[in-house]
Amino acid sequence: MNDRLALPVGTTLDRFIMRKQEDFPYATGELSQLLRDIALAAKIVNREINRAGLLDVTGAYGSQNVQGEEQQKLDVIANIRFIRALRNGGEVCAIISEEEEDIIQTGNTKGKYIVAMDPLDGSSNIDVNVSIGTIFSVYRRSSETGCDGTLEDCLQNGTRQIAAGYIIYGSSTMLVYTTGHGVNGFTYEPSLGEFFLSHPNIVTPRTGNVYSCNEGALNSFPEGIKNYVSYCKEQGYSARYIGSLVADFHRNLLKGGIYIYPSTAKSPNGKLRLMYECNSLAFIVEQAGGKATTGTQRIMEIEPTDLHQRCPLVIGSTEMVEKVEELVKADALVS
Ligand code: AHG
Ligand code: MN
Ligand code: MN
Repeated sequence: MNDRLALPVGTTLDRFIMRKQEDFPYATGELSQLLRDIALAAKIVNREINRAGLLDVTGAYGSQNVQGEEQQKLDVIANIRFIRALRNGGEVCAIISEEEEDIIQTGNTKGKYIVAMDPLDGSSNIDVNVSIGTIFSVYRRSSETGCDGTLEDCLQNGTRQIAAGYIIYGSSTMLVYTTGHGVNGFTYEPSLGEFFLSHPNIVTPRTGNVYSCNEGALNSFPEGIKNYVSYCKEQGYSARYIGSLVADFHRNLLKGGIYIYPSTAKSPNGKLRLMYECNSLAFIVEQAGGKATTGTQRIMEIEPTDLHQRCPLVIGSTEMVEKVEELVKADALVS
């Protein structure tokens, strides 16, 4: 990252965003405003999550989302909060959300941006007080402004992201994001209602000794991935799997490690969604010096054909991801 852009720990998110914008002479401030809209929605969702045990917002909502998965009340609440903030902000013309089958038109036809989001990630962990998250990606629309966002605007590959980030609602709440100039993390101070820069210029370790996958499904993993899990055990690595992608990813980003969600018998294309889980985290991990692939292909180069398509995900420390690629390739040669 450019040294001129470095700001001290303790800088507020607002000031950080503003200072970054000043460093780009032609920036219009719209992306800055969009990031502030996301931070505002994050604060509101954080408040709902913290009070979840007290209010009647845990448990199932009684409906299914587009993936046929049961929606939790907080999935629905987070979806509404983020859509509302982005609609009010005015910079976004269209939104892709895990919770909505079709493109959400905000009515802001002059908005230059598209946001893809998983409003609440790790929803199976809501009721049990385990870390959950929000994931987002920002794209510039390719169509002219003045009309609704199009399907083509939404189906851009991950290399075209102009920003991506996540919020982790954990033992503390953090917002981590990139605009393609390194990755920075901000910790929320609830009594002040502000995010403060706490993790400037995050660089992920080149290797690690933690692997994260749902080993309960090991029998139906592809051979190359099974071989990698055996390799991890031979090496004496530790297994860590929370079941909230954001939380597993965040730990590995800071400490070094690998997260794998391969194809399985239950989910032949993997479980995770390209547009608002895999691409967003792939952009962040690459900006932090790590790697994200399907095992054979760079995630950000997959050409999307469907708003909600899934793909296998192998993401984390570069040397660990490359070891997976090596074993997947070796298996393809023998089979
Ligand atoms: P979501 O709550 O947005 O549907 O995502 C759940 C995802 C992800 O967070 C997690 O890593 C994965 O599902 C866990 O799946 P398994 O229970 O199959 O391991
Ligand atoms: Mn998710
Ligand atoms: Mn979700």
